[in-house]
Amino acid sequence: MKNKPFLWKLQENIIEKENKKTLIKFITSTDRFTQFTQVKKFENEWSAWQGRKYSVFVNSGSSAILLIFSALKEYYKWEKDTEIIVPAVTWITDISILLQLDLQPVFVDINCNDFSFDYDDLAAKITSKTKIIFLTHLIGFPANIDIIKKIIGKRKIHLIEDCCESPGAKTFYTKVGNCGLVSLFSFYWGHHMTTVEGGMICTDNKNLYHLFLLKRSHGLARELPKKLHRYYKNKHKDIDFNFLFLTNGFNVRNTELSAVLGSSQLEKLDVYIAQRNNSYQKFLTIIKKYPTFLYSPNNDGISSFCLPFILKKMYIKNNLQKFLTAEGVETRPIISGNLLRQPFLKSRFKNKGFPHADFLHKNAFYIGNNQFVDNKRLKHLKNLLEKFFTNPKYIIYE
Ligand SMILES: Cc1ncc(COP(=O)(O)O)c(C=O)c1O
Repeated sequence: MKNKPFLWKLQENIIEKENKKTLIKFITSTDRFTQFTQVKKFENEWSAWQGRKYSVFVNSGSSAILLIFSALKEYYKWEKDTEIIVPAVTWITDISILLQLDLQPVFVDINCNDFSFDYDDLAAKITSKTKIIFLTHLIGFPANIDIIKKIIGKRKIHLIEDCCESPGAKTFYTKVGNCGLVSLFSFYWGHHMTTVEGGMICTDNKNLYHLFLLKRSHGLARELPKKLHRYYKNKHKDIDFNFLFLTNGFNVRNTELSAVLGSSQLEKLDVYIAQRNNSYQKFLTIIKKYPTFLYSPNNDGISSFCLPFILKKMYIKNNLQKFLTAEGVETRPIISGNLLRQPFLKSRFKNKGFPHADFLHKNAFYIGNNQFVDNKRLKHLKNLLEKFFTNPKYIIYE
């Protein structure tokens, strides 16, 4: 009998039998599927897990970014072209939403140790117009919050943390997502835990929390906590309270189904993170054998998102990527590489002064990591790398 071809996918289904059973039980026991008590329950559980006062469940990580920045713009009465500092390597909606809101992204190069900002470049790019540093804890690595806070000093600049790829990663003193004004998470399929599509916003700021609730759901006053209802009813007596709009909002709500799945997945999130981190450590041991060719950083606070390969030479990276693909191992760039090379940004921003982002763009890729990456798979990877690095045709430049 022929062996099945080996397949190591970038994303695999992490919705378990137990999660499905919980969903079925919920579906058969309710007639209410739109945002209601299960969403609130999941938000409370997430706040407890994360260690933040308020959480707002939305339908994607990108919707979380949209809500956050439209709320901040309104709350702080920002002018058009207010400057928001962003990394050159992150997910595209971290940038496109700022442009859609007429805010001005200011790109900063990254570093290749924790994949956050090049901290010298960050210090150089802050101006009097900078209102926010929108950092990404990329592929599970916590950014160095201490350095960033030192760079900010006494200036009135807030931190917004994109934790979509790093839930549970730790800085010196807390989980990422607790270090700034607001943070966001994605539960897209293939992340550490999933609600199929979904995202979460976290903050300790009550006013912003209320604005997120309003904007998530059309701007409707009834979305606010019950104890505020009387005040708004009295204030706007000529309008039916159920259709009272306090601000310009969106509809980026999620559903009861997603919330039930989220609560069910959250029960095992710590286990999933530990499994991913365990595989990452074993991966580091495997690649340690080839220090002349590649490296991947270590970090005590990691919540591993993937297994990254950073090659010293671009042609070897290209060969290795092709080789692994042919062997059934899916690969992709580190998120999307240097975003300044993307067509719609290239026409607006100069791709000058981003050597590290460009290095990652050209010399790095990743393969999937999740709870299914076991010793058998890692052994297979070890054998594949041995085959590759002992074959001169792959590693000698022709
Ligand atoms: C760093 C980062 N930010 C934002 C997002 C957007 O999340 P979503 O896909 O849920 O919209 C992602 C998506 O994977 C991401 O990796």
